[in-house]
Amino acid sequence: MHGTTVLRSVIMKKSVIGIIRANQSGELFNVAQALHEGGLSCIEITMTTPGALRAIEEAVGKIDGVIMGAGTVLDAPTARQAILAGAQFLVTPTVKLDVLEMAHRYGVPAIIGAMTPTEILTAWEAGADMVKVFPASTLGPKYLQEVHGPLPQIPLVPTGGITADNAGEFIRAGAAAVCAGSWLVDKQAVAEGHYEVLTERARRLVEAVRKARNP
Ligand code: 3PG
Repeated sequence: MHGTTVLRSVIMKKSVIGIIRANQSGELFNVAQALHEGGLSCIEITMTTPGALRAIEEAVGKIDGVIMGAGTVLDAPTARQAILAGAQFLVTPTVKLDVLEMAHRYGVPAIIGAMTPTEILTAWEAGADMVKVFPASTLGPKYLQEVHGPLPQIPLVPTGGITADNAGEFIRAGAAAVCAGSWLVDKQAVAEGHYEVLTERARRLVEAVRKARNP
């Protein structure tokens, strides 16, 4: 099986991706570890985070069983840098086909961001491994369900405003996985070094998704 297919099936099986978007680079490793302790195996560090590449490099292979990705990848050079740092998947907020091309050149799966049905299908036809539907909580689970109806073959990953309270609704609406950032990685908890808060939120999120899949 092709590498991108293997990773995509792991991401789909886990069904939850944690996003780390921070204003400073300190403690990124601890944040990733805390999320992993809560049951997350797929973690993305956004390229808006200072020191993101270093953090990806540091975490890859050091947290057992975790797949590390790079998020908010806006161009092909950044995609290449992230891949060289060890990123095992890439995520974009918009339909960036140059990022997709670069990812696939090196056998790395890409989750491409889209909002409208046309953008979603464009990303899929271009070869996106999964399509991130963004901003999900603004659009709502009903939007996802309505798009999923005629496009059931596209693995949709709602992103933006995902919490343990709404994740189940998105899964029931047809999401292949959910992606959560600011609710999961609570800024105040990180600032105060309360990583157990992150672990607990990760646990709640994983449990909400599990329940929605096996009621
Ligand atoms: C992001 O790329 O930061 C996502 O949109 C995450 O959104 P969230 O922080 O609302 O979960």
